[in-house]
Amino acid sequence: MIRGVLLAASRSARARELVVATGPTRRVVDRFVAGERPADALDVVRGLAADGIAATVDRLGESGVDLASARESTDGYLALLDLAEDVGLAAGLDVSVKLSALGRLVPYGGLKICYENAAEICARAAEVGATVTVDAEEHTSVDAGLAVLADLRRDFPATGAVLQSYLRRTENDCRRLAGAGSRVRLCKGAYRAAGDVAFTRRADVDASYARCLGVLMTGEGYPMVATHDPRMLALAGRLADARDRDRDDFEYQLLHGVRPHEQLRLASLGAQVRVYLPYGPDWYPYLLRRMAERPANLALFLRALRTR
Ligand code: FDA
Repeated sequence: MIRGVLLAASRSARARELVVATGPTRRVVDRFVAGERPADALDVVRGLAADGIAATVDRLGESGVDLASARESTDGYLALLDLAEDVGLAAGLDVSVKLSALGRLVPYGGLKICYENAAEICARAAEVGATVTVDAEEHTSVDAGLAVLADLRRDFPATGAVLQSYLRRTENDCRRLAGAGSRVRLCKGAYRAAGDVAFTRRADVDASYARCLGVLMTGEGYPMVATHDPRMLALAGRLADARDRDRDDFEYQLLHGVRPHEQLRLASLGAQVRVYLPYGPDWYPYLLRRMAERPANLALFLRALRTR
């Protein structure tokens, strides 16, 4: 119930105005968001690299329905990649993009626009030795997202997909995307949908995650295991062992600010670990989705509002 309210609030302009005006302290935003500027994000990337942890950087902003905001978002990613190259952090860096931020929702031609913008980012990423992963959004956008991804992968085969285990279709999507050269991030899904398309009970989402993980680990692609769930992290390790996957044949991905000790522990065991690092002033919907995932995060947020 709370989860549903928070996810609805993450899409509500009125709720956004109220929360931003009340203003949680910087402390709570900073826990999950790397700062406002590309330089802030790259400072965190440098710190992670010192601990043997890679990053995928997300420029926050996902509701643009006009050409200008799609352009601004694209330019923001290009500037980030330029700066990463200048400061020697581009090689091995990944950027996570949301097609909605790149123009998917622009009326008339939105898909073409987001494809062109994403291709521009992929081209710059390839020049500097970085990669791009296309985030998954609401279930209604999955077909469009996978179609754009297939187009991108023709010219930029390293472009990564994201699949969400809460959707009933995802096990099949895993089968289709588990081929050689394919990078697939598996997450549970930060959105909600009705029972005809989605699993609505946590246990079913988890069981689906385990099945999807099995498919990806058995395939020939590069699985990116995006979860903080200790059972799923352990399962990924066991499946990798059983399938004779080397440590650099898959990676764990966790969110910035979530289970930092576990991130370090996995890296210290020699596993590939990548942290999802959002930055930018438009932190509101991202933060609300993190609150929806975990009551403890919500408590932190409410305390921060009260103590202002
Ligand atoms: P879940 O929320 O079910 O938690 C399971 C267990 O994990 C908990 O019981 C606890 O033990 C542990 N745990 C979780 N959070 C914790 C915390 N804050 N502190 C301590 N323990 C904690 N979603 C999406 O829809 N599209 C996308 O593109 C992405 N991309 C993405 C990238 C990466 C790298 C990650 C890690 C996640 C995403 N997500 C996402 C979000 C994802 O779908 C999901 O909402 C969150 O990861 C939460 O789900 P968990 O798998 O962590 O398990």
